Amino acid sequence: MKEFSANITKSILTGIQPSGVITLGNYIGAIKQMVRMQDEFKSYIFIADMHAITVPQDPTTLHENIRSLVALYIACGIDPDKNIIFIQSENEYHANISWLLECNTPFGELSRMTQFKDKSSKNANFYAGLFTYPILMAADILAYDVDYVPVGIDQKQHVELTRNIAIKFNKKYGDTFKIPDVYITKEGTKIMDLVNPLKKMSKSSENPKGVIRILDDINSIRKKIMGATTDSECIVRFDPEAKPGISNLINICVALTGKSISDIETMFEGKNYGEFKRFVADTVIEEISAIQARYQKIINSQELDKLLEENATITRAIAQKKFMLMKEKMGLYK
Ligand code: TYM
Repeated sequence: MKEFSANITKSILTGIQPSGVITLGNYIGAIKQMVRMQDEFKSYIFIADMHAITVPQDPTTLHENIRSLVALYIACGIDPDKNIIFIQSENEYHANISWLLECNTPFGELSRMTQFKDKSSKNANFYAGLFTYPILMAADILAYDVDYVPVGIDQKQHVELTRNIAIKFNKKYGDTFKIPDVYITKEGTKIMDLVNPLKKMSKSSENPKGVIRILDDINSIRKKIMGATTDSECIVRFDPEAKPGISNLINICVALTGKSISDIETMFEGKNYGEFKRFVADTVIEEISAIQARYQKIINSQELDKLLEENATITRAIAQKKFMLMKEKMGLYK
């Protein structure tokens, strides 16, 4: 059974919804950070399937996406020996903790979540879960007493809400939760849509040309990058306000190569956008084709099922302990 080394004291946790194949944005915003940090932290990474059902899902596709995302995590470099990879719905204590937290979250504070305002405005017939979802996210985080939550900037407000919920709970009932910090890298902040670089690259985007998915065919990835929206200045220069398209491509290169923004600008001084885009495409394709090759080897492995079963047991025990503590603090029958 997996155990973290005694020298490792700080911990991190993140999750991704299995609502379609993950995007380059998810990879850069969340997974790559976890891979970078996995040697120095106790790492928990999970499939947020209970978050995915806050909007309608096709059950067969959802089921396939869950397993596929586990394999993708590993293919992306999440080492199962260094991380606890698990499926959220396999651990019922997340939902149990979430209910206790719901009863300690002011409605007004929850109503301020911008992602809810955004998503609910697109479909008036939304379900209650879409509104309360940030509390489930707080439960995911607070159950494990983690120090940092590596995410993209779109999740920052939810982690701030988590902090507020935890601080208030501790104040009301006594020390119960560790207060987590959000962890966002500069380049992973927000990868934008390739067609409309004013909006984030999203799994649920209507235009597939703007979104790179990790399992996309390699030729189509090249086409999408070569067709990315730019501007008429023809200078490879980082300026997200004036040049959102080029700045997004620079950001992708920075995140994938480890070069700085000015390294990239210097490399392409006096060169045209076609040359730059070819470089971006080569960089992305090199990274993604290696992931795809690893994914094909893992997806049907029975080891995956064994791993998930073991990790469900480990995470259940941790979250159950927190749930019991919360029950006791709140005066519920124990
Ligand atoms: P989700 O599934 O929408 O996104 C997963 C992660 O990817 C990041 N991300 C991006 N980063 C950079 N650029 C982008 N274009 C981009 N798009 C997405 C997100 O910020 C996120 O880190 N509620 C979460 C899942 C979740 C969770 C948690 C995360 C549930 N419980 C606890 C952390 C901790 C979500 O819907 O992420």
